[in-house]
Amino acid sequence: MDSLLSICDIKEDVSYIIDLAIKIKSGETEEKPLAGKTLAMIFQKSSTRTRVSFDVGMYQLGGRGIFLSSSDLQMGRGEPISDTARVLSRFVDGIMIRAIEHDDVIELAKYSDVPVISGLTNLEHPCQVLADALTIKEHFGSFENKKICFVGDGNNVCNSLLLIAPLLGMDISVACPEGYEPNEKILKIANEFAKENSTEITVSDDINVALDNVDVVYTDVWVSMGDEDEKAQREKDLAPYQVNQKLMDIANDDAIFMHCLPAIRGQEVSAEVIDGPQSVIYDEAENRLHAQKAVLYYYLKD
Ligand code: CP
Ligand code: NVA
Repeated sequence: MDSLLSICDIKEDVSYIIDLAIKIKSGETEEKPLAGKTLAMIFQKSSTRTRVSFDVGMYQLGGRGIFLSSSDLQMGRGEPISDTARVLSRFVDGIMIRAIEHDDVIELAKYSDVPVISGLTNLEHPCQVLADALTIKEHFGSFENKKICFVGDGNNVCNSLLLIAPLLGMDISVACPEGYEPNEKILKIANEFAKENSTEITVSDDINVALDNVDVVYTDVWVSMGDEDEKAQREKDLAPYQVNQKLMDIANDDAIFMHCLPAIRGQEVSAEVIDGPQSVIYDEAENRLHAQKAVLYYYLKD
């Protein structure tokens, strides 16, 4: 069964899904295309946007979502992921999961007879970057000649951005300190995508180099869910990478600021930037709903 665990899984259809999201957002698609369909939503980690947008998205498409906290599921008491996948497949039409370990989501998809959609793992956050791409397309009109710079920790969001940018024809740079580089395997695949699409990827600890000719400045928290033990060290190492106005001024004059949220003002981003005129964070958050409806339509519609 086709699943969405990584942006690589929709390599050929990323543009199609974003255009579908634009259509769904503008009300051009049929009403209630997922009538009678059910989505199980398993959460092993906290969530505001992912949980609510999947739930509301299913409802607006005519179906329903069922919230399942992993601590309430038998899976949380040791029931094998394989049994959970096989059993849920008998009840529902799709499974969305936010998991601690990416490998657990691979395992779930392996035994599931219905599509599995990742709502974030330690490795990737594919639904987030679909919403981000939708936001960029809406703001600039197209992806042509656009460049994103991800500043800070080369984390799950950064990994998914590295994969989606070349597939849409955008350049991407990462500005991070040594030891906080994106996942090596992801970077290798992203570089292959960049080669195929004649785009550029750079990873540098030099913020000035990374921010040259940039249209989108993107950052995320320094301490992702699961990294709490390293909090003090991360805050020290990443402090020079705070996105503040001085740093925004290196990017293009019409550059926008993006953040997947939740954000910590005064850490990875200054309040002046995140609450300032270049910030599009609330459009970006709203687009989680529209992008996810496109993903749900793509995977669950008969
Ligand atoms: N951006 C994002 O995934 O937010 P939540 O953690 O609130 O779902
Ligand atoms: N990188 C963050 C994203 C939260 C949406 C985390 O994994 O906690």
